[in-house]
Amino acid sequence: MSSVKIEFSHLSKQYKDVLAVSDFSAQVISGRVTGFLGPNGAGKSTALRCLLGLVTPTGGSALVNGGPYSSLHDPIKQVGAVLDSRGFHPGLTAKQNLKVMASASGIDFARIDVVLKLVELEDATNKRTKGFSLGMKQRLSLAIAMLGDPEILVLDEPANGLDPFGIVWLREFVTKLAAEGRTILVSSHQLAEMQNTVNDVLIINKGKVVAQGSIDEIRQGKTLEEAFLALTARRSA
Ligand SMILES: Nc1ncnc2c1ncn2[C@@H]1O[C@H](COP(=O)(O)OP(=O)(O)O)[C@@H](O)[C@H]1O
Ligand SMILES: [Mg+2]
Repeated sequence: MSSVKIEFSHLSKQYKDVLAVSDFSAQVISGRVTGFLGPNGAGKSTALRCLLGLVTPTGGSALVNGGPYSSLHDPIKQVGAVLDSRGFHPGLTAKQNLKVMASASGIDFARIDVVLKLVELEDATNKRTKGFSLGMKQRLSLAIAMLGDPEILVLDEPANGLDPFGIVWLREFVTKLAAEGRTILVSSHQLAEMQNTVNDVLIINKGKVVAQGSIDEIRQGKTLEEAFLALTARRSA
């Protein structure tokens, strides 16, 4: 059964003179890949940072599994996240980085080989991450996010810098996780790339919700880019 796993309710975030997110309300349900789409500066990262308790909203709320992130019991086992900043140590190998993260979160080291296999980084297990390509770094970030075997994954622009193979791999990866019943919220400004990946779409522009629905409802036979342009033109008209 699908259920609401992420809920933005009248979320707002005002930075000094920028209203990054404005009265933003939306729901994300389980068992689906939801694309959180909008141009650069639309407010995607700010909304996701509010959701993960890294930014304090100036209004409204962003709830995950029914509560604010800060109130979750064992959050790493409930929510895995990949944000644009990479939190791993360049001088350590992939496996050592995972050990550091697992220790900090009280996760059994047996998970390390499981997640390395999951992201297909087995061959790079003992390589220092400073020699990693961007695609390998993205995979390691995903491995870290999966350490706690979370039912919810929040990915901020994970396709950035990936080559076509990496993009296809990422698509299959998130599709499989959603098929297991997990909730995947993945942001991107690359609409063309996302239209084959996501089941549901949540479009944000200038901090506001533009549209939300299944990919077919939003596209209406158009490309996602065309649909986005039509929807934003309609709003500003
Ligand atoms: N820490 C910050 N301080 C001030 N302004 C910020 C900060 N973070 C983001 N912004 C501004 O908020 C708006 C939304 O940014 P962001 O959430 O990063 O959008 P997106 O992830 O969709 O590209 C932009 O105008 C950006 O410049
Ligand atoms: Mg961003």
